[in-house]
Amino acid sequence: MPSPDRPAATTARAAAGAPGPVLTDGFGRFHDYLRISVTDRCNLRCLYCMPADGLVWKERAEILTFEEIERIAGLLVRQGVRKIRLTGGEPTMRRDLEVLIARLRALPGLQSLVMTTNGLRLADRAARYRAAGLDGLNVSLDTLRPDRFEQMTRRTGLERVRHGLEAALAAGFATVKLNVVVMRGLNDDELPDFARLARTSPLEVRFIEFMPFDRNEWSTDRLVPYAEMRRRVESAVTLQPLAAGPNAVAREFAVAGGAGRIGFVTSMTEDFCAGCNRLRLTADGRLKNCLFSVGEADLRGPLRAGADEAELLAVIRGCVREKWAGHPPPAELAALHNRAMIQIGG
Ligand code: GTP
Ligand code: 5AD
Ligand code: SF4
Repeated sequence: MPSPDRPAATTARAAAGAPGPVLTDGFGRFHDYLRISVTDRCNLRCLYCMPADGLVWKERAEILTFEEIERIAGLLVRQGVRKIRLTGGEPTMRRDLEVLIARLRALPGLQSLVMTTNGLRLADRAARYRAAGLDGLNVSLDTLRPDRFEQMTRRTGLERVRHGLEAALAAGFATVKLNVVVMRGLNDDELPDFARLARTSPLEVRFIEFMPFDRNEWSTDRLVPYAEMRRRVESAVTLQPLAAGPNAVAREFAVAGGAGRIGFVTSMTEDFCAGCNRLRLTADGRLKNCLFSVGEADLRGPLRAGADEAELLAVIRGCVREKWAGHPPPAELAALHNRAMIQIGG
């Protein structure tokens, strides 16, 4: 039965997979990429993600159940979402994750189900996730040196991540990318080493500009701008530009004579907000219309109070409508009271 929020024409359009009004913002951007944080917990303590003075983990009752995640994801896929990325915290901390993977994979219309992980637990799980229907993995690794790994993550584990990465490459994923957050004075001297890795492995190595989040000790001094990263990478390998998709987060390049690719995520010096197609669902059931949005829409409350589909869609539509054209400059972002990155999932 069509509701005022979802008239018959809208229903037909969404069913056909065309952009519908619920997920279209005030600037005409259609949001077909949903990032779902499945836990706020992590087994590392990365400097750029986790506040030094720690965080109180959320109670289990605050975290969405698999059924609740599936319900919200199903609703959004019926409105036109085509890609879902699982994030955290660290998503592999969530027990029985492969059960959620299989359930989301079964949503009719979903084209791509991927995950971003720190790789610590991949060695014995990558194949299981692949078998459950996961299409791709992005693995975060910011240094190739064990002592530095400990300095940047406040934990040990480089060898485990490297084995995890090997397991990911062996498991037959459509894409495996390596995310490197570059921080001046910490790991920026490893840009050439990571670049050479993209020449020898069938990986996309992505160098990411350090972004400010709650209590992550961001400063302009620590930010290595894209132009500088690119110069330093080009001292080690020859880059050949690749065409960019309309919603691309990274500027991508092939590596001459190599198996892999290199990308740069440039949100601090050359943002990509004009082509943004991303929404975020936090582990505690809030919808964020931007990585940096301070305002959030509560979906867990209405869901647990028995809201029907039309009521949930009205909340989602309101959240999408409020989205800004793009994020303010870095210095202003650093002053915002957003969540810590670990509670958003990137
Ligand atoms: P692909 O789907 O493989 O392109 O991955 P992705 O870039 O969407 O996801 P991933 O989790 O690997 O994130 C890589 C980096 O891009 C992280 O630093 C994210 O915080 C950042 N990122 C992802 N989406 C956005 C976004 O919408 N805005 C900004 N500013 N950064 C983003
Ligand atoms: N700036 C840029 N990228 C970040 N990530 C986490 N914190 C930051 C930050 N402050 C990255 C992680 C992970 C992805 C989800 O976000 O390295 O790969
Ligand atoms: Fe989209 Fe916000 Fe990221 Fe810009 S900063 S690309 S608007 S999520």
